[in-house]
Amino acid sequence: MKILGIETSCDETAAAIVVDGCRVLSNVISSQIDIHSRYGGIVPEVASRQHLLAIIPVIQKALTQADIELKDIDAVAVTHGPGLAGSLIVGVNIAKTIALSCRVKLIGINHLEGHIYANWLEGVEPEFPIICLIVSGGHTDIVLMRSHGLYEPIGRTRDDAAGEAFDKVARILNLGYPGGPAIEKSATEGDSSTYRLPRAWLKNTDDFSFSGLKTSALRLSESLDNSASADVAASFQEAVADVLVSKTIAAASRLGASNILLCGGVAANRMLRNMMLERSPIPVNTPSPILCTDNAAMIASCAYYRIQKGDSSALDLDVLPNIRL
Ligand code: KG4
Ligand code: ZN
Repeated sequence: MKILGIETSCDETAAAIVVDGCRVLSNVISSQIDIHSRYGGIVPEVASRQHLLAIIPVIQKALTQADIELKDIDAVAVTHGPGLAGSLIVGVNIAKTIALSCRVKLIGINHLEGHIYANWLEGVEPEFPIICLIVSGGHTDIVLMRSHGLYEPIGRTRDDAAGEAFDKVARILNLGYPGGPAIEKSATEGDSSTYRLPRAWLKNTDDFSFSGLKTSALRLSESLDNSASADVAASFQEAVADVLVSKTIAAASRLGASNILLCGGVAANRMLRNMMLERSPIPVNTPSPILCTDNAAMIASCAYYRIQKGDSSALDLDVLPNIRL
């Protein structure tokens, strides 16, 4: 089954062709980072206009790279939430147009579920039950996945998402946007043991909190000059990774999980990946970095498993900017 995936929930316009949920024929991502970086963050109105300009060329490129035509696809899958309403609308409307004109199935996909399914794109079949840590710009969730499509929320952030904290601390340290890769790069030149930043353990819950850590990084940076930013970046990155890894492993062990899945944009962070792999007593799966950040292959993969269960969407599919998993 060849599925065309479309993803426009935030600042990446993406389209991909995936066969049977796991074989990626093409994965085209057009990033708007250069446009938004001059504002220091995403401007929703600018994002939706850019999606409008990019979406048709991006889909055409995905078809060309996969060496197929629109008539060859069996279904079209699209992110319909969570995300920016004006951005989601662009993807959903083009997906409906293609479904109607090509007479193929339409299926709306939850972006967070898509992040989880990035793990099925690399030829490994993680074993259920699985503890998923989804860490992105808008979410930090621990979810128990008992089988395909069956999720139980376990823990979540009570304030900032991990990616949001990376972006804000990068801004404090004048490292640029997006903050995650900028902090990771700066941290390679720093020493994480120079400063000890606090960890919010929130005992007896699987929830997270990153706002106190962010404020501590702000106070620390105010007391130092720019030359210390690499050490602050390294300490901050280690503090975030330490809490994410410790709490995920604790939840996995308490709930008897067979596997840990690490996904979402922050999962591209090498230190977080390595720490999870080193400390976990059970197998850890994490997609290659390009499949951690937003892409449409993960949306097409998720759609395959949903279609296997008989799911599809009607042509009145709406955007759901605040939908949960
Ligand atoms: O999943 P994603 O691409 O988009 C959302 O669904 O939000 O995640 C974007 C987030 C941003 O906050 C970005 O700073 C963070 O992921 N990120 C990283 C890295 N690459 C992206 N954070 C830490 N280290 C990275 N290498
Ligand atoms: Zn995402």
